[in-house]
Amino acid sequence: MYNEFHLDKIDLRKQPPQEEPARQYYFMAKCQEWIKAFKQKNGRLPKACVTTFGCQMNARDSEKLAGILESVGYEIIEEENADFVIYNTCTVRDNANQKVYGRLGVLNGYKKKNPHMKIALCGCMMQEPAVIEKIKASYPFVDLIFGTHNIFKFAELLTTLLESRGMVIDVWEDTNRIVEDLPVERKYAFKSGINIMFGCNNFCSYCIVPYVRGRERSRSPKDIISEIKRLVADGVVEVMLLGQNVNSYGKNLKEPITFARLLREIEKIEGLRRIRFMTSHPKDLSDELIQVMKDSKKICRHLHLPLQSGSTRILEAMNRRYTKEQYLELAARIRKEIPDIAITTDIIVGFPGETPEDVEETIDVIKQVKYDNAFTFIYSKRTGTPAAAMEQVPEAVVKAGFDKVLKTVQNTAREQVARYQGSVCEVLVEESNENDASLMTGRMSNNTLVHFPGDADLVGRLVMVSLDECHGFYYMGHMVTNIS
Ligand code: SAH
Ligand code: SF4
Ligand code: F3S
Repeated sequence: MYNEFHLDKIDLRKQPPQEEPARQYYFMAKCQEWIKAFKQKNGRLPKACVTTFGCQMNARDSEKLAGILESVGYEIIEEENADFVIYNTCTVRDNANQKVYGRLGVLNGYKKKNPHMKIALCGCMMQEPAVIEKIKASYPFVDLIFGTHNIFKFAELLTTLLESRGMVIDVWEDTNRIVEDLPVERKYAFKSGINIMFGCNNFCSYCIVPYVRGRERSRSPKDIISEIKRLVADGVVEVMLLGQNVNSYGKNLKEPITFARLLREIEKIEGLRRIRFMTSHPKDLSDELIQVMKDSKKICRHLHLPLQSGSTRILEAMNRRYTKEQYLELAARIRKEIPDIAITTDIIVGFPGETPEDVEETIDVIKQVKYDNAFTFIYSKRTGTPAAAMEQVPEAVVKAGFDKVLKTVQNTAREQVARYQGSVCEVLVEESNENDASLMTGRMSNNTLVHFPGDADLVGRLVMVSLDECHGFYYMGHMVTNIS
């Protein structure tokens, strides 16, 4: 639909429209005027850099920010020594916050040398009032701050910033709005994330996401499907459906629909080759979904199924709403129905009250499920969450448990990944290898990385690769035939 909006045809003498997304296109046209004037004065276009912290959802939001910057005329660059730099922040663990504070100092150094430079902060961290106070007090050189709920207003905020002096701050507490049809600048030509829902209602007791991303709301199937069709027409072969808990997709829509049904509809899109999704909360994973995955030719053989802990006592304190036994039974059912599936997970070590015996329970689950990969995190206390008020585990105990869990996970992953040694698999070629330009890197349906000799023109193609040598988490192989 956004093709209908021609920035040059928008009459800026009129008042901005009230309805969205028309209002944002009006402000994009205004920014474009500003950029033209900048070019005339400085003999060049201004440069912008978007830096992402955090999860795939933030990565997708950054593509929307870049889409607007590009539409109004900024030259998008990777270096942060630019005229406009925006950090899309994450606050899921404290180290994510610390990274931002550290790098802001570096940005200030650039800003002192570039009088045009503007610095913006957005994303999850900005939804925390204490963060805003700290930035106002200690980082006064920041020019623009907004949060997760009003990111659709970026063009309007950018206009305000370009026309004013001093720090512009606009953070909303929550929203039930979803604004469609704004421009997006994809990082990859051949694959794309798609938001299917926003927010989270689960309130796991350690997690800050529901506080900074608001309540769960699903996009309509119609909007999702037409977005995917548009992407496929533009060369995308793989989509990743994004939501904090995709298994509860559609429950709050006027016409409720299950996630499994949505997948069935997406499967029908011609030209689309691969469908991925994340994340699945174990408590909501239905038999219908397992069946749809089993029947599907496009849904990838990969399921990310966060465990968090293998101890029923800790799971209860975490408010995860499943027991160790229920999780094990679910994983076994999935492995039985879809034997070639890779199951990956997230694990937290050091949740308040966790004992070495609880960690043993987690290790037991890892050994039984045999994860193909797992992200292991040290518990991070998040202000405002119920777990922050609970008694914390001493650091040395956490460290010992963490090392043990990590070792177990590495062992099962190594065994699982090696299952395919010697076979021929379909690989989506993603990029030239960073360390050796003669090699290409791609992913199997189960998300395992494969490196093989090839040319850069294979990027975005699905090819058959013989998996010759397993090197722990990836394969070295050679291409057998080109299938698309
Ligand atoms: N919605 C997803 C997870 C989003 S956050 C889900 O429920 O699976 C990604 C991961 O970060 C979580 O799975 C959890 O393992 C981890 N995480 C969240 N809060 C954390 C905290 N306070 N400390 C450490 N890890 C945390
Ligand atoms: Fe956080 Fe739990 Fe929601 Fe995931 S499901 S985002 S861990 S509250
Ligand atoms: Fe971080 Fe926000 Fe994602 S807190 S993990 S960027 S939803």
